This record gives sequence, structure tokens and C-alpha cells, in this order.
Amino acid sequence: MERTLAIIKPDAVAAGHAGAILAEIEKAGFSIRALRMIRLSRPEAEAFYAVHKDKPFFAGLVAFMTEGPVIVMALEREDAIRKWRDVMGATNPDQAAGGTIRRRFGASIERNATHGSDAPETAAFEVSYFFAGHELT
Ligand code: RTP
Ligand code: MG
Repeated sequence: MERTLAIIKPDAVAAGHAGAILAEIEKAGFSIRALRMIRLSRPEAEAFYAVHKDKPFFAGLVAFMTEGPVIVMALEREDAIRKWRDVMGATNPDQAAGGTIRRRFGASIERNATHGSDAPETAAFEVSYFFAGHELT
């Protein structure tokens, strides 16, 4: 079993897509080990996406991720990191496969509905960024 960190981003929460995305998560066989709705502060978003701090899209990404509430979740499944990225689809919704979350709910390469960890080390960092051990059921 493996864990990954998923976020339903502000665009999808505001548009009322959280329920449909949670249904996709359950249909894909993940167990939700922890879940919380929060509004990220600017320093929280900057630290979470620190790996992108030198990218041209960093300021826009931080502004987007702090514009409204997000839903953060720890998901568990066999091969969870790769599988969740498959269910989300490509970063750019225009290039995401049909039926994926980003294809269905993403509006642009930035406003793309969900986040997923990309490797075991980042998953461990990102899950612990939002959840203490006793919150992971
Ligand atoms: P994420 O980290 O959110 O799961 O997305 P990802 O791995 O598919 O993509 P990544 O390269 O890590 O980029 C993180 C997020 O930054 C925004 N972005 N904007 N304007 C742009 O060119 C651009 N490129 C990336 C997206 O919100 C992307 O998910
Ligand atoms: Mg990423």
C-alpha cells in the first residue's frame, strides 16, 4: 500500500466539482485516510510549491492556490502515486486523456482542478505537510 497527497484546487471547489471528484477517487479504489477543507495562506502555498519557486508561473500559481478553499486528502491504494496521476490526467487539460479529472473539470494549464504528488519522497513530504500521524486513520 502507498499513500499520496491529493488536493481539490480552488477552481474545482468553487465550481461545485468536489463531490464528483470524490466519487472518482472512490471509484478508482482509493481509501481516503484523511481529509480537510482549508484556505491556504500565501506562505503555506509558497512552501508547498517551493520546488517551483524559480518558475515563471510561480506567482500565478500561489495566487490561484490561495484564492479560495481547497480540500486536501491523503489517499491510499496500491501504486497510489502513479494511479492518482493517471486519474487526474495531464497537467494541461487540453492534453489530458478523455474521462480524466483534468479533462472534465480543468480550464487551463494553471486552473486544472486537482494536485497529486509526483514521487514517494514528495508524497511523504506533502502528506506530512497537512496531516499529523494521529490524523491518518
Ligand atoms: P500538481 O503538482 O499540481 O499536481 O501538477 P503537475 O505535477 O501536473 O504539474 P507541475 O509541473 O508540478 O505544476 C504545478 C502546478 O502549477 C501550475 N502550472 N501552471 N502557467 C503554467 O504554465 C503552469 N504550469 C504549471 C498548475 O496548476 C500545475 O498543476
Ligand atoms: Mg507537480
